[in-house]
Amino acid sequence: MSAVAMTVNGKAVTGDVDPRTLLVQFLREHLRLTGTHVGCDTSQCGACVVHVNGKAVKSCTVFAWQIAGADVTTIEGLAESNGPLHPMQDAFRENHGLQCGYCTPGMIMSAIDIVNRKGNDLDEQTIRHELEGNICRCTGYHNIVKAIAAGAKTMGAGRRSAG
Ligand code: FES
Ligand code: FES
Repeated sequence: MSAVAMTVNGKAVTGDVDPRTLLVQFLREHLRLTGTHVGCDTSQCGACVVHVNGKAVKSCTVFAWQIAGADVTTIEGLAESNGPLHPMQDAFRENHGLQCGYCTPGMIMSAIDIVNRKGNDLDEQTIRHELEGNICRCTGYHNIVKAIAAGAKTMGAGRRSAG
């Protein structure tokens, strides 16, 4: 076991972990932040996407110790409890961008990253291309694409721009 320390959703956290502990395991099992999901064993589904130092990362692909000292944001960190939702969360709700919701945390974290990299005026082709690393088994993607385009615009309209 070895100690690992990082900042998660604005709070300093530490844990004693096996060197093989993945970031997603650290978040879910040590910190009980279970909004970050595991949907595959092959780094393909994107259900586990979080932000590490402001960039989208599949948290099943890195060991916790590899990001010691980093600033991590999970889906739980996008909005204050009892506060307004992040505009991208709102856009998924308004546009029915989810069904079972299993992929949704990863979709939203990826969507915010897309906006941060590509801007607030996103066309359908760009969104579909950028979502290649996120799999949804329910929705057929149409409403997810609509939600991301709408959320991107709202983020650009002066509400919170990143998670
Ligand atoms: Fe990380 Fe599927 S659980 S990509
Ligand atoms: Fe069910 Fe995407 S809403 S997997």
